[in-house]
Amino acid sequence: MDEFFNLALELIEASERHERYRDLECINLIASEGLKSPAVKEMLRLTMDLESRYAEGENDLNGHVKKRYYQGQRYITVIENCVTDLMKKLFKCNWADVRLVSGTHANLATFKGLSLATKNNKMVVTPLSCGAHISHDYTGLAGMVLGLVNIDHAYDIEEMNIDPDKSASIIRAAKPGIITFGGSLFLFPHPVKELRSVADEVGAYIVYDAAHVLGLIAGGMFQDPFADGADFITSSTHKTFPGPQGGVILGNIKDERTEEAVKKIQYAIFPLSTSNTHLGRLPAVGIAALEMRVFGGDLARQTVKNAKAAGQYLYENGLKVLGESKGFTESHQIAVDVREFGGGGVVAEKLEEANIILNRNILPYDDQRNRENPSGIRIGFQDVTRRGFREEDIKYLCDLMLQVIKGKRKPSEVREEVIELRKEFSEIRYGFKSVKEAIEYLKRA
Ligand SMILES: Cc1ncc(COP(=O)(O)O)c(C=O)c1O
Repeated sequence: MDEFFNLALELIEASERHERYRDLECINLIASEGLKSPAVKEMLRLTMDLESRYAEGENDLNGHVKKRYYQGQRYITVIENCVTDLMKKLFKCNWADVRLVSGTHANLATFKGLSLATKNNKMVVTPLSCGAHISHDYTGLAGMVLGLVNIDHAYDIEEMNIDPDKSASIIRAAKPGIITFGGSLFLFPHPVKELRSVADEVGAYIVYDAAHVLGLIAGGMFQDPFADGADFITSSTHKTFPGPQGGVILGNIKDERTEEAVKKIQYAIFPLSTSNTHLGRLPAVGIAALEMRVFGGDLARQTVKNAKAAGQYLYENGLKVLGESKGFTESHQIAVDVREFGGGGVVAEKLEEANIILNRNILPYDDQRNRENPSGIRIGFQDVTRRGFREEDIKYLCDLMLQVIKGKRKPSEVREEVIELRKEFSEIRYGFKSVKEAIEYLKRA
């Protein structure tokens, strides 16, 4: 066969195998990945025309469509406005923008907009090894693309959190335009409340990156960043918030200053960083928001319970789970130092052989350049919780992990039990089974 055709065939086969492998045969514990309900998936399939369209243009200060440069927008405008309003209502704020195609894009537009609004290119951020996302960092989007200067928050390793007193001094000395909170290794709520008045003293905006915890916030767990004093929330829409891959920015226009900030962020969205806004995902984002409103509280509570139960159980069975003195976690994830078992890279690969999928992670005391085999692994429980795991099931899963991590059984032996366990949990909970079921629920409500 022609090499080109061979490649196309290989592509189709790999795509089919991937779906079976990751969705049916593995247990997913990657903390940054979400699990969509059947209704969200169905909505994605229903919007294939939308997936081909464009809707470039400006939005107004409600976050609604103001001006578009293409014809044929009759329903696209309604769709975008509805999703924007659903997100505003779910997160109790008066402005939102759903045109961002990812969490990184949400950070790009927010950081750019706020640095324009403040005419200040300094940003206080959590160090990368203490949980910040690469897009906050001088080695990533913030520094290399936007030219922002990073100044690190002080981090307390015992508390696994930003040290509010020391960070207050850093902020006063640095006088940044932006202070960020939130991150990728994110166990405990960040001290937004404690640092709000310091942000006011220096005229900085507070940006809270909720990519990991947006679903927990929707469910009333973790912290409410707006109540604590954040000006803007940036996020992905596909981690604990179980929508399609995409991004969102949320905020409140309270006065001239925040209005100016929103205008600059909107400018950073269009025309600075979007043309196509990937419209096909929008209805599914709205269905995920509906599911969070209806089932989000129960889902968030059980997710955090499962994460805490895993922390406790792995700790009792000899693993160095971080944050012990504080109950291991308040979020969907835990962090474990696995140096004595070969390091994060080695352990993650062994677990992968057993079809348990998670990621290696740098820990706060690691050299942040050590990406290959850092000290830790990060374990997320949002996926298994949505599949119906409760504390006892989590303990059984932990037993399988412990056998592999401690080298008591070969990963290939454990794999069969993992596949069996995965089969037992084949229904996705805390969501609608179909769009029809969602419609019926809405008509009754
Ligand atoms: C805290 C945080 N912010 C932003 C992002 C980037 O989101 P996306 O992958 O949607 O670009 C991530 C990704 O995991 C993240 O953990």
